[in-house]
Order: sequence, then C-alpha cells, then structure tokens
Amino acid sequence: MAHRGTFITFEGLDGCGKSTQMRRLAERLREKGHTVLETAEPGGTPIGLQVRRVLLDSANQELSPSAELLLYFACRAQNVDQWILPALERGEIVLSDRFTDSSLVYQGIGRGLGAEAVLALDRIACRGLAPDLTLLIAIDLETGLRRAHARNKRKNEVESRMDEQAVEFHRIVSGAYLELAAREPQRIKVIDGRRTMGVVERDVWETVARYVS
Ligand code: TYD
Repeated sequence: MAHRGTFITFEGLDGCGKSTQMRRLAERLREKGHTVLETAEPGGTPIGLQVRRVLLDSANQELSPSAELLLYFACRAQNVDQWILPALERGEIVLSDRFTDSSLVYQGIGRGLGAEAVLALDRIACRGLAPDLTLLIAIDLETGLRRAHARNKRKNEVESRMDEQAVEFHRIVSGAYLELAAREPQRIKVIDGRRTMGVVERDVWETVARYVS
C-alpha cells in the first residue's frame, strides 16, 4: 500500500524484551527529529484496549480459537484505520509492538487455524498494509517463559490467558517465528535478544538506520 511513512513492527515470544526495545527506539528516533507513533497489539486504540481485556483475561478460558483470532483482528482493524494508516499517510514512522505476524504464529500455527484464514482476515483488516521492516527479537523459550511468569507475578497480572498456555504451545510458536523469518528474510530481521539490553538496542538501531533517513 502506497504511503509516505515507515511502518516497523516488533515480534517475539512473551518476555523477549521487545516492548523495552521499541520504547528505546522511539526515543532515539524522536531525538533525531522524526515523528513517531507507538502502538501495540492487542490494544493500541481505546476500542482495541477494551477488546484486549477480553482476549487476555485469564477468566475467559472458554474463548474459542476462531473467536480469539477474530478479536485479535478486530483490534488490528481499528488500529489500522484509526491510528496506523493516518500516521503513515502523514509521513510518520509507526512502531507497533506485534502485528499480523503474531496472529500467523500464535493463531495460524499455534492454534492450528492455518495461515490462509489469518491472511484472509489480514486482507480485510489491513487492506494490503504490511510492515516495511519487522524486528524479531529471538530468545530461548525457557528465558521467555521465566521472564513472563516473573512479570505476571510482580504485577499481579490478570492479563495472562496467553502466557498460561502449555509450554508446548510456546515451543510451536517459537519455531513458527523462526520459519516465518526464514521465508521472508528481506522484511524480517532476527535480532538475538539473549544479549544485554544495550547490545540488543545497538543492533536494533543499526538495522533500523538503514530504513529511515
Ligand atoms: P502482548 O501484550 O504483546 O504481551 P507480551 O508483552 O507478553 O508480548 O501480547 C499479549 C499476548 O497476545 C501474547 O501472548 C501474544 C498474544 N497475541 C496473539 O496470540 N495473537 C496476536 O495477533 C497478537 C497481537 C498477540
């Protein structure tokens, strides 16, 4: 889809550090004089945040896989229409903490709904909008789960329905991310997230610098 801005997404397992990295990147881009919109999925817009509550409430154990998929895309459709496309049309840089790749790996592969169902919804919600660059912050499963559980405990988190999935689910998601990156090496850059935050930050910056002037 033609627009003047730059659309960059962050992907990775829960606890991979992508949210911190995205915040730091946004600060750095602003220091350079860029206008940056930061968003996240599920959530982002006020309406998306209401849908997020339904998706992540650990009380909603009955949520069916296809309802889950549709709700993630409801958030995305709202985010694209209300925030992302207008910002890109204004020529801004948009950073999103997760986007359609999350649905491809968590729902398409993890839940077994298939890539085709996910891509069909993507065509409706995103209408051809795809990230210019995706940073996959890769960590090992054990580190990710440990960090996600520590965070949930610390925050007394009720938004943990996805984190509570079986280890096997997260293992499948982890493999699916790497396969996706191998299929689209031009768009998806894998960043080794096991290193210290500062080293990862430098790597992210060097990668992004090639895309923004
Ligand atoms: P998020 O708020 O990014 O949490 P975290 O900081 O732990 O990554 O995402 C919440 C959960 O939603 C996360 O486990 C991944 C999952 N998710 C999907 O399953 N499909 C999607 O399309 C998206 C955007 C997220």
